[in-house]
Amino acid sequence: DKRRKEEVSRHQQILDMAQAHYVAQLKLAQPAIRYLKQRGLSGAIAARFGLGWAGTDRRGLAAIFPQYEDPLLVESGLVIEADDGRRYDRFRERIMFPIRNTRGKLIGFGGRIIGKGEPKYLNSPETSLFSKGHELYGLWEARAGIRSAGHVLVVEGYMDVVGLAQHGVENAVATLGTATTAFHIEKLLRASHTIVFSFDGDTAGRRAAWRALNACLPLVRDDVAMRFLFLPTEHDPDSYIQAYGAEAFRATVSEAMPLSRFMMDELASRHAMHEAEGRAACVHEALPLLAMLPEGTLRLQIEREFAKRVQLTPEELSGMMRDAPPPSN
Ligand code: GTP
Ligand code: MN
Ligand code: MN
Ligand code: MN
Ligand code: MN
Repeated sequence: DKRRKEEVSRHQQILDMAQAHYVAQLKLAQPAIRYLKQRGLSGAIAARFGLGWAGTDRRGLAAIFPQYEDPLLVESGLVIEADDGRRYDRFRERIMFPIRNTRGKLIGFGGRIIGKGEPKYLNSPETSLFSKGHELYGLWEARAGIRSAGHVLVVEGYMDVVGLAQHGVENAVATLGTATTAFHIEKLLRASHTIVFSFDGDTAGRRAAWRALNACLPLVRDDVAMRFLFLPTEHDPDSYIQAYGAEAFRATVSEAMPLSRFMMDELASRHAMHEAEGRAACVHEALPLLAMLPEGTLRLQIEREFAKRVQLTPEELSGMMRDAPPPSN
């Protein structure tokens, strides 16, 4: 256990040293600075989020780690070992986004290329400190903003978090290119009892919202509010606030639809609700979802409203729920 503690602290130290290196590199990288400016970001906001730059050198980190062969560099995710045993930096020619945990400790990085190329974003791999299914980008940086706004905004991308903050919307956090999990929701609920999801307006964003809803269902309580915001198809939060400004964005946030409505509208949109067959299929799809909701007034409210939509009495619906198999989730 003591050895493990020492290893964690060395791992931490390695990440901190890399972060200082990436920040210093950004100051010297004109193309990277130009890119950030072109995306509407000021030097102050870049500094606030600790943005950095990983240069073109294949072994750029050797400049600060003379022991480049140290296995901990590979374990920390900063260095990749090729099949032939040769090692090189994972992140090259990328804008670096440091990712912190809720205690402010650096746990990983995301990196965006500034030109063409694949992949657009590269994240640290899963390590003993970093798990994408648990962590949210920007949660540490947003802690004061969440408190003063009274809600947390969940967006898809790093650039959404930073772009919103540039416009004074400082309560946004992002999932790390993965689906929203129950762990994420639990973490978010510790930060605020009101969660507003604002995913991209494209079909991928709509799908991501539906998966987030599924993760939310078991955690719905009478004292929490989960809302969903849908932007015009061509926009994400960053592009929207760039185009229309902070006031317009805040207005759309205040009109975000409650979880119950998103759930029912989405279910209804998938079935021919004007036909008995369509309504039956809709009930079939809805039963396991409804069963995930914890007991409470909100569950009763949702059941009652859903029953109306599928032309059942609330008693008929709850009868069917008793007979339905327990949720597999
Ligand atoms: P910009 O183009 O910089 O505005 O990024 P974006 O955040 O709008 O990109 P997009 O909507 O395509 O993706 C949202 C998020 O998904 C990103 O912030 C990343 O976390 C993740 N993501 C996008 N592309 C990739 C990729 O190629 N690889 C990985 N691992 N994650 C990606
Ligand atoms: Mn707000
Ligand atoms: Mn997208
Ligand atoms: Mn974007
Ligand atoms: Mn996007």
